[in-house]
Amino acid sequence: VVITAGGTREAIDPVRFLGNRSSGKQGFALASAAKKLGANVHLIAAHVEVDVPKGLDEITRVSSAIELREATLAATAGADVLVMAAAVADFRPANYTDVKIKKKEEPSEDPVIQLVRNPDILREAVELRHTNPSETAKVIVGFAAETGDATTSPLAYGKAKLERKGCDFLAINTVSATQGFGSDRNKLTVLSHNSEVETLTVEGSKDDVSYALLRHIADYLNNL
Ligand code: CTP
Repeated sequence: VVITAGGTREAIDPVRFLGNRSSGKQGFALASAAKKLGANVHLIAAHVEVDVPKGLDEITRVSSAIELREATLAATAGADVLVMAAAVADFRPANYTDVKIKKKEEPSEDPVIQLVRNPDILREAVELRHTNPSETAKVIVGFAAETGDATTSPLAYGKAKLERKGCDFLAINTVSATQGFGSDRNKLTVLSHNSEVETLTVEGSKDDVSYALLRHIADYLNNL
């Protein structure tokens, strides 16, 4: 079982980066739970706020989305399960400056940071399934933190995302002030590629939801 966790950092210069609020807690809870359930676990961790769990089989530390992609695709060849719990930056600065950017005298000379799109690792893993199945995992699971907005519910965004990404399951994590990023509790609604309706809704500690999600994945894997 390969699990990615944490948030990527996209370097602007040697001292600055673009990042996100992922704490890594959900990914780490999944890795610990998978180990306790008897899996061989390879954790690929980007930037996190908590200590890496002990007792896992392999841990790879990465920083940027490009590094995460390389480590994930390499680790996933021949794996049973890939869970993409990492918060991957969609964009990175187009130009990395290897010296610190300095302020100029004139505000009109303030820098403008041009962004370019990062690779979509989850989609790449799914596409490999079609071209080279032995190079990817048998079950591919995405995560999506959604707030919804005035016109669209978090679940509706999740359904569209599952369609777009093509993974087997998408675990939707509804982000609010008390749930989601950084917190110890989570509510997951799991959508399946094979079904119109949600296959699992679970609320509790990040450990509780991890066990429920992994058991669900294991049942699916055993029936493949
Ligand atoms: N993901 C990925 N590579 C990316 C972006 C996201 O593999 N470049 C994965 C995440 O690890 C997660 C899933 O895709 O499992 C959904 O991530 P999310 O950021 O919600 O998806 P986006 O496609 O970036 O959608 P949005 O427009 O909502 O940001």
